Order: sequence, then structure tokens, then C-alpha cells
Amino acid sequence: MDAQQFIPNPYIYSVEKGKVSWQSPSNIALVKYWGKKQDQIPTNPSISFTLNDCKTMTSLTFTKKENDGNFSFEVYLDGEKKDSFKPKIETFFKRVESYLPFLKDYHFKIETHNTFPHSSGIASSASGMSALALCLLSVEQQLIDKAVRSVAPVSTKASGVETSGKKASFLARLGSGSACRSIEGSLVEWGTHPEIEGSTDLFGVKYPYEVHEVFQNYQDTILLVDVGEKKVSSTVGHNLMHGHSYAESRFKQAGENLSALKDVFKRGDLDRFVEIVESEALTLHAMMMTSLPYFILIKPNTLQIIEKIWAFRKSTGSKACFTLDAGANVHLLYPETEKDKVLQFVQGELVEHCKDGKYICDSVGLGAQPIIENEE
Ligand code: PMV
Repeated sequence: MDAQQFIPNPYIYSVEKGKVSWQSPSNIALVKYWGKKQDQIPTNPSISFTLNDCKTMTSLTFTKKENDGNFSFEVYLDGEKKDSFKPKIETFFKRVESYLPFLKDYHFKIETHNTFPHSSGIASSASGMSALALCLLSVEQQLIDKAVRSVAPVSTKASGVETSGKKASFLARLGSGSACRSIEGSLVEWGTHPEIEGSTDLFGVKYPYEVHEVFQNYQDTILLVDVGEKKVSSTVGHNLMHGHSYAESRFKQAGENLSALKDVFKRGDLDRFVEIVESEALTLHAMMMTSLPYFILIKPNTLQIIEKIWAFRKSTGSKACFTLDAGANVHLLYPETEKDKVLQFVQGELVEHCKDGKYICDSVGLGAQPIIENEE
């Protein structure tokens, strides 16, 4: 499988202007992607739960312009112009241009809104880049098939689900690696793995094997510890895996953890799930602490929360466990059956470690969806 398949045939139709909109969720990795090669190719496979409520809604208004060899776009977050977002989007446009050859034929107005607070420390790159990729793909589909007007849902056979779902994930990956795992739900794997059929470095695939019912509607309560800008971006962190002393064994370990999760998902073995997920989170941060230069993203409150989760599990037999992103916030994962008990624990013991007592209740979701606009 290679990227060539995503280069379209010459477009048949010409469209003067239009507007497309998508909403796309964030995701939380169970086996972490940390380290990449050129073109956003991951150095190890990863798998994540797609979230339900933490998402980005993006509208893309496009107007035909003369192709003068430049990209032309403006970006708004919550109605406010955000020129600071432009360099990242320009890089994204450059990376995807050969797969979306219409990009320089239009001026784009990108209007975006996150359901989670911008300064919550929750990365909006996965949801934001996947929503933008889907919008661009919807524009392309209008150039290929005039019957497709404002949107082409990923799940519609008529719009070619196979290709469009894959291409959406492929494009999203070129925006932000983990964004390729946000197109579908509820478990998405990304990165070539010998025991996962259809897995590829090019895009995320819906986890293709049996998943025990205990994982249905799994809960993720996100404890907001540090809500500021990260001191070290994930781009820098990924790059520090080049020449890292533990890189090779870490990449191998990720593959092994993914193999082990196959059995966990099938049998619903939550004890082993807890062990793998927490070990993955700590390994991710261990990689940061042992990079050169080294850096630390967790905070004292992150550790306090982790200690309390361990004590809670020991005293109650709960299967709640934590995972971490590239930041200080703690994702508390647990089965739906434990919801009341765990939320009581959160309110009673963990909120005191959260910035302004804030946390977000989310659960696993089904992936991105088009937002139907009324055509003018
Ligand atoms: O997609 P990026 O480049 O922001 O990297 C995300 C990396 C982690 O969130 C730390 C792990 C993951 O697999 O999502």
C-alpha cells in the first residue's frame, strides 16, 4: 500500500464556491505514538480510544480564485481571527497539496470551535486537523461527483466509504500524526503491526477484532492539572527520539503491548489492561525525562493524582486506571459500571489537585460526523 493511491484523477467538475462543515473528536492513546520518521510516519504502532465530547467543529468556506501559485486562507477560532494558527496550516497544505491538487484554486475561510476550553491543556491538534482534513475532502468530493453537495459522510457507501475514510485519515495524519486516529471510533490502530490485519503507517484503521463488552462506553474523566501552553511541543518531543538511548527497545515494547492488548480486548481482562495502559503512560514520560535535552511535563499534582488512583484501586478493587498525554493532565479511564463510584472519588479526592477544580467527563465515541449546512 502506498501514498500514490490518494492522488486523485483529474477533477471533472468545477465548483465556484461553497461551504462544508465537520465535527471531529479528540482521542486518547492506550499505546502511545512517540517518535516519527519523515512525512509523519510513526516509529511504532499505537492504538487509541476515540472520544465523544471533546471535539472540534470546523466550517470551511471556499471561493474560487486564480491559481497564482500561493495558498490563500484565513483562520478563525470562536469568531476571532487567529493568524498564529496559519504556519501550522500552511505546512499542512504543503504536505497534502499533491493529494488535494485544488488547494491553490480556492481561497478558504476556516472557522473553528472546540467544545473543550482552548486553554485546557487538551491538545486540539488531533480533533482540529482531522476536522480540517474532512472538510477538504468534502470539497474534493464535490469536484469529483456533482451529486455530492455540501457534505459526504465517511460512512456513506455512495461516497466511497473505503477510499474517503482512508484518505481522510491519511490527510489528517499529515496535519498531526495522532489526528489520523480521530476519523472513526471507538478503537483505532495506526502503524504497521504484523498481528493486525490491514494496519499501515499511512492511516488509522478501525480495530478489526473482537472487543469485550466491558469496553463499551468506556469512560474518560480528564483531570485538568495544568492548563497552560506546553513548554515542549510534541513535534520537538518526537524528534528527540532520534538517537535516544532507549528508542529501539521502546518501539519494540509498543508493538508487544499492542499484541498483548489483542487478548485483553477479547477477554475483557481489565487487570492486564490497567497494567499495560499505565505502563505506556509512564514510559511515554520516561522517554521525555531521558531525552537529550531532557524535559518533564508532569507536575506534582499529576503524581498526587496517580498515587490516589493507586490507593483507590487497592482499597476498592476498582479497575480505574490513568493515562497521560504529552502534558500534565490525567485521563482517568474506567468501565461504565463504575461511573458513580469513580465520580464520587473524583469529587471527594481528586478535584483538589485540579486547576480551579476543573475536570471534563467524556467517554468513547464513534468518530467524526458531517455537520449539515443549509445551502444558500
Ligand atoms: O499527534 P502529535 O504529533 O501531537 O503526537 C501525539 C503524541 C501523544 O499524544 C503523546 C501520544 C499519542 O499517541 O497520541
